[in-house]
Amino acid sequence: MGDRLATAFLGQRLTTPLVLPAGVIGMSFSSLKRAVESGAGMVTTKSFTIEPRAGHRGPVVAEFDGGLMNCMGLCNPGIDDGLKEITEFRRVCTAPVIVSVFGTTESEFATLARSVAGSEADFIELNLSCPNVGREFGGPIASSPKTVHAMTAAAKDESSIPVIAKLSPNTDDIAAVARAAVDAGADAISLINTLGPGMAIDIIAQKPVLSNLVGGVSGPSVKPIAVRSIYEVRKEVDVPIIGMGGVSTGEDAVELMMAGADVVGIGTAVYHRGPSVFRRVGEEIIDFLDRTGRNSVAEIDCLRISSCA
Ligand SMILES: Cc1cc2nc3c(=O)[nH]c(=O)nc-3n(C[C@H](O)[C@H](O)[C@H](O)COP(=O)(O)O)c2cc1C
Repeated sequence: MGDRLATAFLGQRLTTPLVLPAGVIGMSFSSLKRAVESGAGMVTTKSFTIEPRAGHRGPVVAEFDGGLMNCMGLCNPGIDDGLKEITEFRRVCTAPVIVSVFGTTESEFATLARSVAGSEADFIELNLSCPNVGREFGGPIASSPKTVHAMTAAAKDESSIPVIAKLSPNTDDIAAVARAAVDAGADAISLINTLGPGMAIDIIAQKPVLSNLVGGVSGPSVKPIAVRSIYEVRKEVDVPIIGMGGVSTGEDAVELMMAGADVVGIGTAVYHRGPSVFRRVGEEIIDFLDRTGRNSVAEIDCLRISSCA
């Protein structure tokens, strides 16, 4: 593939614009490494909390025609053990790594940011948008610009590495939320986290499929929401955007770039097809470049169609 897919993100060189987003397979250093070996240019860990979390009991994933619903409940080993995986990853891999963290207060985000900044991570991503635990705390943090501003500012104050704010599609005005994050110092925006939550019922067993009744929706069915959300955020802020939501082909990835994403996450498609999806999507992007007479991904311009009715 040569250098045609190479790009830059916040001063780091990426071999491809494809990113493993938080949570899908990023619990251990070996799965992060596997994603890189399969063609991801950058990888994100599972969201870590200060203390370990068991998450919800199973079943925590339900498949449907349009993708997945999950109610993992942020199961993770806690930030201290999570960061040990980064040390291992660094020994074997040079690709940039994002550590995702989840907190519920400013002080938790500040503590998490301090820990991550002291590790070998390249970036910290604030999961401000988990629909599976947000309800316990009065709704996802990312539906309120004011809360997003406060959480982002708290993390930024403690972080010597760039801070990425991950936003939820579950809000009336995602551009206003992105603006609040950037005003608080976010160096980049990542979107979208899962939509919903949604619900599925097993009509033979006559009970909900998921143990938690509801789960965040991801995969092909959320792609139009991702495209619209990225487009609105791109018009509002100038920082780099990691776009994700429903990407499973090279053409999907190009569509998110045209909406305004600088790099593109592939989550549910990895769950369905395994990490080799990165290689395939990369090849399909090259096909698109060939078909349209472009040399490199840098030539995929974001559409500035704000004047279109
Ligand atoms: C099983 C599963 C677990 C996830 N865990 C996290 C997580 O820990 N933190 C987070 O910010 N997003 C998490 N996400 C959301 C993804 O990172 C991504 O934003 C979302 O799934 C949309 O992309 P996709 O349609 O390509 O999957 C998870 C998604 C799935 C499917």
